[in-house]
Amino acid sequence: MKTEGFVIQAFRDMFGDKPTTLVRAPGRVNLIGEHTDYNAGFVLPMAIDRAVWIALRPRDDRRVQIHSLDYEETVEFPLDDLRKGEGWGEYIKGVANELQVEGFKLAGWDGILGGDVPKGAGLSSSAALELAATRAFAAVSGFDWQPARMAQIGQGAENRWVGVNCGIMDQMVSAAAQAGHALFLDCRSLEYEHVPLPQGVAVVVMDTSTRRGLVDSAYNERRTQCEAAAEFFGVPALRDVSLEEFNRKNSELENTFMRRARHIITENQRVLQAVAAMRTGDVRKLGILFNESHASLRDDFEVTNEALNQIVEAAQMHSACLGARMTGGGFGGCAVALVDREQVEAFTSAVMEAYRRRSGLEAQFYACQPSQGASMAML
Ligand code: GLA
Repeated sequence: MKTEGFVIQAFRDMFGDKPTTLVRAPGRVNLIGEHTDYNAGFVLPMAIDRAVWIALRPRDDRRVQIHSLDYEETVEFPLDDLRKGEGWGEYIKGVANELQVEGFKLAGWDGILGGDVPKGAGLSSSAALELAATRAFAAVSGFDWQPARMAQIGQGAENRWVGVNCGIMDQMVSAAAQAGHALFLDCRSLEYEHVPLPQGVAVVVMDTSTRRGLVDSAYNERRTQCEAAAEFFGVPALRDVSLEEFNRKNSELENTFMRRARHIITENQRVLQAVAAMRTGDVRKLGILFNESHASLRDDFEVTNEALNQIVEAAQMHSACLGARMTGGGFGGCAVALVDREQVEAFTSAVMEAYRRRSGLEAQFYACQPSQGASMAML
């Protein structure tokens, strides 16, 4: 039985009645455009076929009661008196808080939560949870699903309630993706286009099984360095610096800041080139861009770890691989490879073995289908 069946059955078991509504929001893998979102730049993520599901029914008081199948724990809170606590329930409270601050009138609900996005792996299980919760509130409270606005609600919950200073990419793709497509997003205007995944290639996520350690401080440090570099160039964000301008002025910039800026500026270019390559079906070019992105993240932005470098190198050496790179925030977690669709199994077993030999670690591989963004079904 799939997760949706699980959450529906668990709802019946717990509440003795059937749910009225089922919502789903996916995790994501970023194809290219890393750390560009908080520089007002371009990204090209794809929603994956792993998601968070909530089976629910409205309540007539203003309370939310939600049970997590993974954590075997129930969280309950009143919408009129939201208080901070700890754990997975904070994402839901955070979303409720953002929506109310933005003037949405919310109804309460009972729900069962489940999903299959690996947690803490860099596949945005938290954005999926935020968007599933937002979709649930939209369903019971009767407001329209405006993907960009709802993504901002999710990001606001993460920034202001949970206290993680992420960009908008993960929430946007979970809110707005279209099946079969990646999402080409301008993180300044929040305009986006759905770009079909080329024929003949598979997107393979490779989880190194290492986890980011002190990621928040390193992530925030990168953000601060990018802001300082933008200030040096006299612009609001590094998005506004062309390669020509960078080349003209960069010798005056301190080396670390110069390399951070170079990553962002070249990565934005790579996203635009990747979109063009996808449109013309030029998968070789797309693969080369993946490899260049990884090198830039490793050498200039310095957000890879040894395991990410090892798995990416092992992937790049396989003949079925068009390109590979780390994906997400970095410092551990997952890499992504573009692989000949006919050879995914051979690729997976060879790279798994090569990585095991080099690192002594077991990797998880997921061949991912580009899936639909947040959705709702009446039952
Ligand atoms: C994390 C953040 C995103 C983005 C990526 C890096 O996934 O949540 O907003 O900054 O890192 O591209």
